[in-house]
Amino acid sequence: MTTDKIYLNGEYLPLAEAKISVMDRGFLFGDGVYEVIPAYAGKLFRLENHLERLDNSLKSIRLANPHNREQWRALLTGLLQPGLDQSIYLQITRGAAPKRDHAFPKDVPPTVFAMASTINPHTDENTGLKAISLEDSRWKLCDTKAITLLANVLLRQQAVEQGCAEALLFKEGHLTEGAASNVFAVIGGVLMTPPKSPAILPGITRDVILEIAETNNIPHNEKAISKDEIKSASEIWVTSSTREIIPIVELDGNVIGNGKPGPVWKTFFKLFQDYKKSLA
Ligand code: PDD
Repeated sequence: MTTDKIYLNGEYLPLAEAKISVMDRGFLFGDGVYEVIPAYAGKLFRLENHLERLDNSLKSIRLANPHNREQWRALLTGLLQPGLDQSIYLQITRGAAPKRDHAFPKDVPPTVFAMASTINPHTDENTGLKAISLEDSRWKLCDTKAITLLANVLLRQQAVEQGCAEALLFKEGHLTEGAASNVFAVIGGVLMTPPKSPAILPGITRDVILEIAETNNIPHNEKAISKDEIKSASEIWVTSSTREIIPIVELDGNVIGNGKPGPVWKTFFKLFQDYKKSLA
């Protein structure tokens, strides 16, 4: 659920009072970028990494960052409720221009919007979720966190209509990521995930998992994963800031491992919760 107070262009407002122009380029063209930042016990998680990725997304679409790091921290903290686990959605668009024209408008201020919602990570150690594989129909700038998400929306919807939580996407026979997540697989006892490239979003949760693997000497590898290889995985997970680490126990109707969250997931679930607590 979204909390009532939101941030829009310099003001905190009740959600129902927040209005933007129908000429906003986010609305007309999907011309903008976003971030999703979790906050545990009222404290923003890995904020520096999220703001660095935001900088990269803004550079990619050639839009100036309207705020420095301290301004962002203050602005976002103003949306949090003390002690709660929440996630912040923030979006910056190229603003509302007087006429609809694909090329960038001149001297138009960006639209800056942020809201906080409650967060529901997967905490059930006995059940996992299902996924399907689909052809990755997206564009070549998947490392930009753009609000232009129609392909992701259609892919996720296809998964949901088949009773699945996520679509695992394949490009030229190799795994890229999920419709709104990164993907990990345990293959031959090694935790694997596709390497960073323009074909995937560099997930912050993905980075945390790789750091945890490194610190705890758990065998891991950033490597291309083929459609055939994923079939031999003993565990598959999808990861994101809002859902943390979700065990996938069925892919395309085939059971993964014994159909329950696997031992490596259980280890990482615990280590991830410990890491969150260590930052609180
Ligand atoms: N999405 N890949 C895609 C395509 C994503 O949309 C997301 C997250 C991720 C995981 O990134 P991170 O660990 O930094 O959340 C990977 C967010 C949560 C969303 O769109 O709501």
